[in-house]
Amino acid sequence: MIFSSVVPLFILSVLVFCPLIHAQQLYEGKATTNCSNTGDSVLGYSCNGLNRTCQAYLTFRSQPPYNTVASISTLLNSDPSQLSAINSVSEAASFDTNKLVLVPVNCSCSGNYSQANTSYVVQAEDSPFLIANNTYQGLSNCQAVQDQNRRQTTDIFAGEKLNIPLRCACPTKNQTGVGIKYLLSYLVTWGDTVSAVSVKFGGDTGRSLEANGLSEQNAVIYPFTTLLIPLENPPSSTQTISPPPPPASPPPPSSPSPNSKKSSDKTWVYVVVGVLGGIALITVLGIIIFFAMFRKNKNRSDPITVPESVEAIEKPVKKKLDEESQDFLESIFSIAQSIKVYSFKELQTATDNFSPSCWISGSVYRGLINGDYAAIKKVNGDVTKEIELLNKINHFNLVRLSGVCFREGNWYLVYDYAAKGPLSDWIYSANNDGKFLNWTQRVQIALDVATGLNYLHNFTSPSHVHKDIKSSNVLLDSNFRAKIANLAKARSAEFALTRHIVGTKGYMAPEYLEHGLVSTKLDVYAFGVVMLEIVSGKEVAALYTQENMNLSDVLNDVLSKEDGQEILRKFIDPSMQGNYPLELTVLVMRLIDSCLNKNPADRPSMDEITESLSRILTTSLNWESSNISGYQFSRSS
Ligand SMILES: *[C@@H]1O[C@H](CO)[C@@H](O)[C@H](O)[C@H]1NC(C)=O
Ligand SMILES: *[C@@H]1O[C@H](CO)[C@@H](O)[C@H](O)[C@H]1NC(C)=O
Ligand SMILES: *[C@@H]1O[C@H](CO)[C@@H](O)[C@H](O)[C@H]1NC(C)=O
Ligand SMILES: *[C@@H]1O[C@H](CO)[C@@H](O)[C@H](O)[C@H]1NC(C)=O
Ligand SMILES: *[C@@H]1O[C@H](CO)[C@@H](O)[C@H](O)[C@H]1NC(C)=O
Ligand SMILES: *[C@@H]1O[C@H](CO)[C@@H](O)[C@H](O)[C@H]1NC(C)=O
Ligand SMILES: *[C@@H]1O[C@H](CO)[C@@H](O)[C@H](O)[C@H]1NC(C)=O
Repeated sequence: MIFSSVVPLFILSVLVFCPLIHAQQLYEGKATTNCSNTGDSVLGYSCNGLNRTCQAYLTFRSQPPYNTVASISTLLNSDPSQLSAINSVSEAASFDTNKLVLVPVNCSCSGNYSQANTSYVVQAEDSPFLIANNTYQGLSNCQAVQDQNRRQTTDIFAGEKLNIPLRCACPTKNQTGVGIKYLLSYLVTWGDTVSAVSVKFGGDTGRSLEANGLSEQNAVIYPFTTLLIPLENPPSSTQTISPPPPPASPPPPSSPSPNSKKSSDKTWVYVVVGVLGGIALITVLGIIIFFAMFRKNKNRSDPITVPESVEAIEKPVKKKLDEESQDFLESIFSIAQSIKVYSFKELQTATDNFSPSCWISGSVYRGLINGDYAAIKKVNGDVTKEIELLNKINHFNLVRLSGVCFREGNWYLVYDYAAKGPLSDWIYSANNDGKFLNWTQRVQIALDVATGLNYLHNFTSPSHVHKDIKSSNVLLDSNFRAKIANLAKARSAEFALTRHIVGTKGYMAPEYLEHGLVSTKLDVYAFGVVMLEIVSGKEVAALYTQENMNLSDVLNDVLSKEDGQEILRKFIDPSMQGNYPLELTVLVMRLIDSCLNKNPADRPSMDEITESLSRILTTSLNWESSNISGYQFSRSS
């Protein structure tokens, strides 16, 4: 639309995507749960083991009707006596629902894929996806089922017998060389991390990452997919007990970044004070809490307002929660395997009794726990929503909650420490104290934020909307990788209307401000604003006052004029000194423009944005490496 006069000037060559090729097996992530994705690599683990057959192990979560030794052995073609032995139960035993069951199988090469065969009789209403994802819980996938039975999605019939390939693999030469004897195909569930799963089975996180073609920077795993855990010894039933018994102190939260200690320069962590406790009016729970509160606190203000400061409405929520929070805290033991419950004493020690020297900002302190920095935020409102959500999600691009503590009506939330602080500190060229991000770092950060939001929108159940995306809620770790913080306002996307407007001026989508319409497109709009800030180096508020018009008009102005290229150069953050590929800034501007569409339906989805940005990043990296050897792109002069 408005770029039509500019874009033809910058026709881009085909963007190339470089796949990872060094992995032992590739973790395919959500591709294995997308039936229309039929790449070879999603059909199974490649047959690269030292031996063509081997003993392998699967995990399975007991679900009626597959909740007995007999039914699970039949479903997965395992030997019932071996299965009962490894789980330390009798052959007649049945398991509690959701109990993690170990399943020994014979894994072997079939064509190019490593798999354990089993067979399944199709039932009414079945589809390859339902069979693979729901019945087999992700141990197989629809593409492989279709491929090996030479069937299309539609033509399977109740009563017919299908061959189901289960995802397993044999150790490679390299793995055998370091003592690995078995690979466990672990079924990922909500809240899992590669390190937590590895530790659970006595494996090594580094080897697990390597075995799946993942890296510490990119260790995102999705529910209903398999993760290979290399093991030196067979897994045992003691490793599948969950939750860990409360009296024993749970293992410390795994340290996110070993070099966070080194960066003791003037670093900041910033977790924005903004927990909106107890006002989850848009959820059923919220309504219940609200009415309970209303009876106890007559002086509670009417929440149908646009609060400038959320702290004002946090306080009245406190009392009622004392009892409920205590219950909730106890229930954390059973629901939150990755969240540690700290005693107040531990936090006092970590923060030198909350001394001013440990103060970061607002009610956030820096603490030293087991040799790693953590950000500790004191909150006196209802945080159960945030904790429940953060416990369920597990994503490199969302700040991780590693622990909680409850004392005298106050919650203390312990987060991973983000060494480089908020993005806003780095991009607002008016006040960034000489801090500087280059073009590629900016694109990577935008992609990180998009990836985190994509996860929140499409891979949490139910889908969530962050509702307060802004540059100060994006934190940077020591490698300048971005993590989205402050999920206090995040809400399920299922409740589509609210009269309670929360968020930050300038980032809020028009349909939300005007009609209280909540959808994931709200975050897309705010993300567009953040990208605009990243590219222009200006705070959105400054853009507003300076131009005195809405953002689409700002963009329009910058790019639709005759001398668009010159105006664009002036618009882009001067601190980059013209050192960026102009063609790509135009692509980014187009993306921003589409995100800021007045009509939410016309905005792209986070999925599409992630795809565009990853192509832009690839091209940026190529540009950067060719730029080092000689300036290919002219600098503005
Ligand atoms: C095995 O190890 C060698 C040397 O460390 C490495 O070059 C090779 O890529 C590895 N192979 C696999 C499949 O990981
Ligand atoms: C599924 O895969 C197809 C083909 O690769 C792709 O076009 C589509 O966007 C994917 N869907 C999702 C939800 O990822
Ligand atoms: C797996 O292989 C071993 C040895 O070949 C055999 O004894 C066992 O019965 C096999 N298990 C199954 C479930 O086929
Ligand atoms: C195995 O992979 C090779 C190379 O990718 C291919 O040529 C061959 O057709 C594949 N075999 C089967 C059975 O799919
Ligand atoms: C597993 O099934 C595939 C496809 O039906 C077949 O080619 C292969 O021989 C089977 N493998 C074993 C060990 O039975
Ligand atoms: C996949 O299966 C799991 C249970 O294994 C279920 O909870 C989930 O909703 C399924 N996913 C979809 C997209 O149906
Ligand atoms: C590979 O096969 C040999 C011979 O059967 C066996 O001794 C060895 O343990 C196997 N290695 C693995 C990793 O399964």
